[in-house]
Amino acid sequence: MKILVTGGAGFIGSHLVEQLLKERHSVVTLDDLSTGKESHLKNILDHPLHTFIKGSALDRNLLNDLIENCDAVFHLAAVLGVKNTVENPLKVIEGNIDATRNVLELAWPHNTKVIFASTSEVYGKNESLPFDEESDRILGATTKHRWCYATAKALDEHLCMAYSEKGLPVTVLRYFNAYGPRATATQYGGVIPKFITAALKGEPITVYGSGEQSRCFTFIDDTVEGTLLSLDFKHNSQVFNIGYGQVISINQLAKKIKELTNSLSPIIHLSYEEAYGKGYEDTPNRIPNITKARKQLNFQPSINIEEGLKKTIQWYKQEINTVRSDY
Ligand SMILES: NC(=O)c1ccc[n+]([C@@H]2O[C@H](COP(=O)([O-])OP(=O)(O)OC[C@H]3O[C@@H](n4cnc5c(N)ncnc54)[C@H](O)[C@@H]3O)[C@@H](O)[C@H]2O)c1
Repeated sequence: MKILVTGGAGFIGSHLVEQLLKERHSVVTLDDLSTGKESHLKNILDHPLHTFIKGSALDRNLLNDLIENCDAVFHLAAVLGVKNTVENPLKVIEGNIDATRNVLELAWPHNTKVIFASTSEVYGKNESLPFDEESDRILGATTKHRWCYATAKALDEHLCMAYSEKGLPVTVLRYFNAYGPRATATQYGGVIPKFITAALKGEPITVYGSGEQSRCFTFIDDTVEGTLLSLDFKHNSQVFNIGYGQVISINQLAKKIKELTNSLSPIIHLSYEEAYGKGYEDTPNRIPNITKARKQLNFQPSINIEEGLKKTIQWYKQEINTVRSDY
């Protein structure tokens, strides 16, 4: 198939593009390199089936030309990161909603399949765990920009569903905290890169809040596997949780990373207010119910946190000397 990956030079996107090429698809990567990096594509820049285009999903003419010539779009381009959400809400809102609307509007006349990268953030503060795809969304006040990313992604999902009801083949994937090689500390789910780099440099490992908040981290290979499975999925208007259900608190994560890196770094705590400013709210716990993805996509995530962290630490050890400024 001919496939367009928006945001393909990003963390998840670059791993996805590599895998699509291994499966002998022809791939066009579109990325404006706002957070992505050409170096993420260094192994595949010269691949005969791959074309990299530096450009934006906000550029409708460019996007139209690309979509016209492809059979499916993985739409991963997004403006994300807690810092952006808090400090740059307009960029987050426009960067997510306008780009997704462009992709859907331009895919519609060609009936091109769209796979949209959404997020577990859409469940917000819902405390009823685990989250399944029909769980309620409970978000904070609109005066707290912290919620604008979740809101924009949820509106993107509504757009997906609306186009899907008109007949466009669309699948929505809600990723739960992906991690692995190439994830950077400034991005969403940046806690693992931050802890690993601090541990490797012997700097304090800084836990925000009490550290008792928990997450289910998903190793990148599992995230990509779930994403690829959606390509052949034939039914419309479906949403899937893509995550791994092993719960770990942030305190436990800090200890585990310290142990696996043999680090002497102290583990310290910083309040959310000190980290992100007044009124910041976190989601206390987040656990995916992946029954639907298991049954309908045959999604079988298998990489536990210990194994995934070892692979990630190995990668950081190699990178940290060469690309110091990013990590
Ligand atoms: N990493 C996670 O744990 C996670 C969790 C939930 C959802 N997601 C979603 O998965 C997708 C990929 O996330 P990621 O973690 O790889 O982040 P990332 O920042 O590495 O990837 C996003 C990519 O989009 C590119 N981009 C941004 N705006 C663009 C535009 N207008 N046109 C073209 N390219 C643009 C960036 O340069 C970057 O390469 C995003 O849609 C994100 O919202 C990620």
